[in-house]
Amino acid sequence: MTVRLINFRVQPGGRLRGSMRVPGDKSISHRSVMLGALAAGVTEISGLLEADDVLATIGAFRVMGVPMKWSAAGSQQRHLLIHGAGLHGLSRPPAILDMGNSGTAMRLMAGILAGQDFDSELSGDQSLLKRPMARVAAPLNAMGARVETAAGLPPLKIRGGQALHGIDYALPVASAQVKSAILLAGLYANGTTTVTEPTPTRDHTERMLRGFGYPVESEGSRVRLVGGNALRACSIQIPADISSAAFFIVGAAMVPDSEIVLEHVGINPTRIGVINILQQMGAALAMENVREIGGEPVADIRVAGGNLHGIVIPPDQVPLAIDEFPALFVAAAAASGKTILTGATELRVKESDRIAVMAQGLRTLGITVEELPDGIVIEGGLLRGGVVDSQGDHRVAMAFAIAGLCAAGPIAIRDCKNVDTSFPGFVSLAARAGLSIIESVE
Ligand code: S3P
Repeated sequence: MTVRLINFRVQPGGRLRGSMRVPGDKSISHRSVMLGALAAGVTEISGLLEADDVLATIGAFRVMGVPMKWSAAGSQQRHLLIHGAGLHGLSRPPAILDMGNSGTAMRLMAGILAGQDFDSELSGDQSLLKRPMARVAAPLNAMGARVETAAGLPPLKIRGGQALHGIDYALPVASAQVKSAILLAGLYANGTTTVTEPTPTRDHTERMLRGFGYPVESEGSRVRLVGGNALRACSIQIPADISSAAFFIVGAAMVPDSEIVLEHVGINPTRIGVINILQQMGAALAMENVREIGGEPVADIRVAGGNLHGIVIPPDQVPLAIDEFPALFVAAAAASGKTILTGATELRVKESDRIAVMAQGLRTLGITVEELPDGIVIEGGLLRGGVVDSQGDHRVAMAFAIAGLCAAGPIAIRDCKNVDTSFPGFVSLAARAGLSIIESVE
């Protein structure tokens, strides 16, 4: 079989203008499908991200016997209707569950599957097969589950029928995925499950469990729930994904005379590191029309272009901007002076080693970069054109596309197919906003 590569080519210059809405939040989309599947009754979701990662989660529940239907095929704002099976209503999957490129899907599903009375196996694509899974297997096994990894990596083999018990677990790494996996297993556990975080991470699971009527206590860095309650179906409206909006926020912030409004973006305080960091770099950013929708804060984000300057990124912002660093590295490359990031080892175990892959691409584009074991030092400078490789990482591909706005020559980006895992329609939306971008197949 010939594997065809999707590549992007961006012509230099341009500026971003206008208003736009990026697709739904990926983290919230995964969770809404999972909790909808485990709830009693019909859950209706609007604004769901229809991208490969979330489709993998939907597919997994469908084969475990949960009917999921789109309200009106073809229309833009269609809703997903989930006929929830209840916490104990899933059926044994007939085959290995393929989670594609999605670490979130695999880790959160591991928590759910650990509590079932059937065996299951989770696998994924070449990138996912390299991502650390002992971080979820260890706490789940401490709860009495039987989750086996392949020397710490996927596939995950999960033996059903185990009696789970609550644990009091201090997360060794700040990870919302691990926290969520433990809380989801905690739904099936006897007694109280408590997770303590080293620093705050996204709290969508806690918020959404409450939205489904499940009591969850949060107190400082601790989250706690008691197993054995039920989830009640509800309606969910998913805001636009700040992680997708980030490419346009950065793109507008670094080019004078740009001005855009990103509409209806989720601004959960555990996700807005990108805004805090860009403001410290001198960006003109405003959150307008702030409101709360379905337990999540939402705003329209207005960004005007200007001159960014380098900063030392505050360590407490790292988990709050963890997915936005590819875009932020491009902002740092276009800024005056030096930007220093430390305390971000986690970037090495994302869809790619984002420190190494971004460093390599930025060097190709003429930027002076020093790689650190847990971060990077970027000297702002003149970006030139060149050919960079995303290494199959969606966010790296989109970050280098946005770099075209500040580049002196065309940028070709190789291996961009996985942009569809989080941001279908990126190329057309970026083109509409003012980026000169085309997609080609090799
Ligand atoms: C996510 C948590 C983060 C983030 C990922 C989505 C989630 O991962 O990078 O894209 O939805 O819980 P970690 O928990 O590994 O930090």
